Amino acid sequence: MPDIQQKITIAIDGYSSCGKSTLAKDLASRLDYIHIDSGAMYRAVAFYILQHQIDIDDITAVNAALGQIDISFQYVSTEVHTFLNGADIENDIRSIAVSNLVSPVAAISTVRRALVTQQRMMGRNKGIVMDGRDIGTVVFTNAELKLFITASLEERIKRRTLDLKSKGLEATSEEIERSIVDRDRIDSTRSDSPLRKADDAVVIDNTQLSREQQLEVAYHLALIKIEQNIR
Ligand code: C5P
Repeated sequence: MPDIQQKITIAIDGYSSCGKSTLAKDLASRLDYIHIDSGAMYRAVAFYILQHQIDIDDITAVNAALGQIDISFQYVSTEVHTFLNGADIENDIRSIAVSNLVSPVAAISTVRRALVTQQRMMGRNKGIVMDGRDIGTVVFTNAELKLFITASLEERIKRRTLDLKSKGLEATSEEIERSIVDRDRIDSTRSDSPLRKADDAVVIDNTQLSREQQLEVAYHLALIKIEQNIR
């Protein structure tokens, strides 16, 4: 058994609603690492832009907005919530309106640069599991473990529907499917940091895996990397 006090960096990327954040949260908790949902940071920026009715084609206004945005993560009882300028926005950022705006916002290079800088700061001491779209390819290119998660579209629609329901948010399954497919297309085809599998990432297709099974697979891969890192 390796000494799991030797902390590594774990990058988890993949398409929308394929369980990356759930896995990242479970893995971080098992290893006693920090978990950062980088998608929540892009959602927080999109929420601010929506709230202040900023035109995303007006780059000067978007850049000015970036200077007004302070994103943090804080515990609310046992759950980590996303905060924007001191307000808990965890539920607001999961709405369909934010989901529909977030990918165009995340395609703006100045937005990416601002958030990537913060993400690297959060990971400077290792012991972090971060999930997103460019974590293994851009944010932590030296991460000891990189995972690329996939699942069938049907399964992803099912999971997103349950997720929204559990937060008391409503959307039809057509809206959910369109939102997932559109986001994947924009995220994979944007010019700055498109979603792609890092060459050294391990692919996990979790369509047929339970939450516990996918955690076991990832945990064992992490233990191997921790052991290799000690040697
Ligand atoms: O992970 P989640 O689905 O909440 O991410 C929301 C959106 O944020 C993604 O569809 C993508 O446009 C953007 N994102 C990104 N880079 C990341 C994480 C998320 O561009 N590292």
